[in-house]
Amino acid sequence: MRKKIVTGNWKMNHDLAQTEMFLVDLKKQVLPEEVTVMIAPAFTNLNHAFNSLREHPVTVAAQNMHQNNNGAFTGEVSAEMLKSLGVETVIIGHSERRAQFNETNEILSEKVKTAIANKMTVIFCVGEELEERKQNNHLKLIESQLTEGVFQQPETAWKNIVIAYEPVWAIGTGETATPQQAQEMHQHIRTVIANKYSKSTANDVSILYGGSVKPNNASEIFNQPDVDGGLIGGASLEVESFMKIVNAF
Ligand code: 13P
Repeated sequence: MRKKIVTGNWKMNHDLAQTEMFLVDLKKQVLPEEVTVMIAPAFTNLNHAFNSLREHPVTVAAQNMHQNNNGAFTGEVSAEMLKSLGVETVIIGHSERRAQFNETNEILSEKVKTAIANKMTVIFCVGEELEERKQNNHLKLIESQLTEGVFQQPETAWKNIVIAYEPVWAIGTGETATPQQAQEMHQHIRTVIANKYSKSTANDVSILYGGSVKPNNASEIFNQPDVDGGLIGGASLEVESFMKIVNAF
């Protein structure tokens, strides 16, 4: 079932005390029933956030995980470790992971495979650089990121896959895709999924937009027919702006 989702990707922000302050405030808020609200704190704060939100309808997600279940991978965290905390949702393929940590489509495909095998929900990120858009190559590029990253999965896995379209040029820049640009790409993503799997799977998948979503622009983006919510960076760090976006549908 296609869901409305707003996920806060905190990236490398908020230490334990700041996380606690956020959670205390968040728990006072009334959340709209029809929106799935998620936050993705740093690994070090996942345990605290998960336990703090145990009685609360907010999902705690991880920002990344390793493709192996265990082994000699210094500094890495596995799906099994996340699950042992109760964390069952993971962001995979964020453009910062692709660009700064050399995560290729091949590695990401392994990560997706491991997450799905561990019965986790995957938020799989795709997005083009500005140059690729200028060369009018963006639709093809996103199709290849999907083909190489997630299309190895059987159709049944798609009940646990969410796609996040995050144009790299819009991340942290204050420049968002226009609602029309977002809609065009989201519709394209749905068509590509329909061609590979089926119309019903394509209709059921939630596709989030990310890239400088703020309280003042969330509504017009979320109102597009193929946009099911957002993956929010900077504006998810404060409860007030995050809640305005959660309530922007
Ligand atoms: P900003 O909202 O800060 O542009 O970040 C978007 C993002 O990368 C979320 O994953």
